Amino acid sequence: MPAQSMEELVALCKRRGFIFQASEIYGGLQGIYDYGPLGVELKNNLKNAWWRAMVYERDDVEGLDSAILTNQKVLLYSGHEATFSDPLVDCRDCKSRWRADHLESDQCPKCGSSNLTEPRPFNLMFKTAIGPVDDGSSFAYLRPETAQSIFTNFKNVLDSTSRKLPFGIAQIGKSFRNEITPRNFIFRVREFEQMELEFFVEPGEDEDWHDRWIQERMSWWSEQGVNENNIELLHVEGDELAHYSKATVDLMYRFPHGLEELEGIANRTDFDLGSHTKNQADLSISADVEENRDSNTRLAYHDQQANTWTVPYVIEPSAGVDRGVLAVLNEAYTIERLENGSERTVLKLKPHLAPIKVAVLPLKRNHDEIVETSRRIKQDLQRLGLGRILFENTGNIGKGYRRHDEIGTPLAVTVDFETLEDQTVTVRDRDTMAQERVHLEELSAFVTERVR
Ligand code: GLY
Repeated sequence: MPAQSMEELVALCKRRGFIFQASEIYGGLQGIYDYGPLGVELKNNLKNAWWRAMVYERDDVEGLDSAILTNQKVLLYSGHEATFSDPLVDCRDCKSRWRADHLESDQCPKCGSSNLTEPRPFNLMFKTAIGPVDDGSSFAYLRPETAQSIFTNFKNVLDSTSRKLPFGIAQIGKSFRNEITPRNFIFRVREFEQMELEFFVEPGEDEDWHDRWIQERMSWWSEQGVNENNIELLHVEGDELAHYSKATVDLMYRFPHGLEELEGIANRTDFDLGSHTKNQADLSISADVEENRDSNTRLAYHDQQANTWTVPYVIEPSAGVDRGVLAVLNEAYTIERLENGSERTVLKLKPHLAPIKVAVLPLKRNHDEIVETSRRIKQDLQRLGLGRILFENTGNIGKGYRRHDEIGTPLAVTVDFETLEDQTVTVRDRDTMAQERVHLEELSAFVTERVR
């Protein structure tokens, strides 16, 4: 059963060190967050799971890690300069600013005035000066999506890997959008991370691949512990469709604040490769693209045998990392009533996502042999490469269990006096709270099986 409210998740994230307000000691920066000791582990685990599924476990995808700062021309020809905007309205009385499509009435949500301006487009891209002189003559954009540099590197990747259609290029990285009203914790933020795949296919095979990717991505979220019953498919229509898209299906997740987009899966046709290509007239491009006077290359696929050039269509599953973190936290957050009438908070994360895989807890914090054995066990388990193993020498086992339930640690290993005699430890399971004695010789195999 997911969390009841966003407040519960925000409180847990701050208390236990998952997520903090950025620049907090100076009053914060709206719509910007930092990931703490546990948040960085959870986020990395989610990204690694995506990379494994999208790159390592497939034979038709390559990876990329490109720059954030982007040449203005890229975002001119991509259409972002002209169209990547939200409708902005100002309240003339209290001077607050709002996204017109987020207003529930024609009154200002802050002061109630009806004295609002007409909506006008507000471009969401951040600019920054390049070089030592900041006179506006030389600037770059902070990329608004990781996708564009996948398109601009299309020929580089193709030439260096000799891929044939269909194939994809995957990228995880930061993107930036100057949201008018960032809100709902890490859901709508100005600096965020994306996990994007651009999957290039023969024109005509695009609709079939679009359907396949929708199914693939639903299954992947389910493997991360997101209940499929909490996801609805939304076929994006009309004005809501991005300028590059022929069809987009959003995976809408039931977040604590409502049903909102977790991932969008778009059919971008040949719009982007076509837009960034020189001598477009020599190619058959179906999308309505601007003439490109600046590109020095053609982003097309050459079939050597047939000696034909194709501008592939592209299917784009594009997921928000931060939204993903919020969804898996929400799904995992559980309050359980125990037999003795008390309650425990337990984060039932899938083990591969858990920030800490195993907590090693010495029963006595000042007992040299117990502490030394615990340290050795931590080091041995750490070498298994499963993720972070924590040695925690507080001497308070009950408190340790409660803390590790709350941060989602799947297993706790307790080292006690018996360990010194018979080389066994107690292993406690987070979800069932069952405890069993395991011999040290079997501990690595036991932990690997339960945590991997
Ligand atoms: N690349 C799609 C998006 O950023 O929304």
